[in-house]
Amino acid sequence: MAPPRATGWQRPPQLSPAAIAGYKRAAAEAAAAMVADGMRVGLGSGSTVAYLLPALAQRELRTLTCVATSQSTERAARKLGLTVRSLDDLGELDLAIDGADQVDPRGWLIKGGGAAHTREKIVAAASRRFVVIASAEKVVSALGPPVPLELLRFGLRSTLAAVGNARLREGAGVSPDGGLIADYWGPVGDPRRLAARLSAIPGVVEHGLFAPEMVSLILIAGEAGVERRAGGGER
Ligand code: 5RP
Repeated sequence: MAPPRATGWQRPPQLSPAAIAGYKRAAAEAAAAMVADGMRVGLGSGSTVAYLLPALAQRELRTLTCVATSQSTERAARKLGLTVRSLDDLGELDLAIDGADQVDPRGWLIKGGGAAHTREKIVAAASRRFVVIASAEKVVSALGPPVPLELLRFGLRSTLAAVGNARLREGAGVSPDGGLIADYWGPVGDPRRLAARLSAIPGVVEHGLFAPEMVSLILIAGEAGVERRAGGGER
């Protein structure tokens, strides 16, 4: 169910795909254990979330209600018997769980490798707690490009010029909400400053930088098990 990748983001060579898959599953299962019956839960998108969905379904929480951030997550969740409603139907969520492309030491994230970052940010912001699930190779000492962008089609050339170092992502097409998916390939430097600059460009619908204060908890799975890092927004 994971959407195709064209960001150029490469896993470091030292971890095998099988090890990474096991870590993604471990992080996802740890997050699934945090879900209680009756909760309203936001479901992110991507290959780590693909492990979350069966782990949640197995718990047979009869009054659990979910919101999906992508059509692929919605399809997979429904197929597993999970109840999926719209965010507008549910309003505030108890918990949102999602993957990340990069996690820095201060808890800044880059998301949107699967082109769903706008919906993912809306769902995370609508949730009382936002839990990030990641395999160990997502941890970086400093964030680097690409930073995913969703752009309005109107005035696209002007918007790309204003962003600088940005290009449309090949094969990504149009988001379910009509935006065009691009990536910023320039230096990230101070993520807060870059996030503010990108947000101030009118044709940028949303960028993939998530600030630490949005994040309650980061579950990072690696060789030593699942590490729990408090996010800047723990409450
Ligand atoms: C999708 C995302 C994903 O959460 C992110 O790309 C991580 O994906 P994966 O779990 O497949 O590594 O932001 O827009």
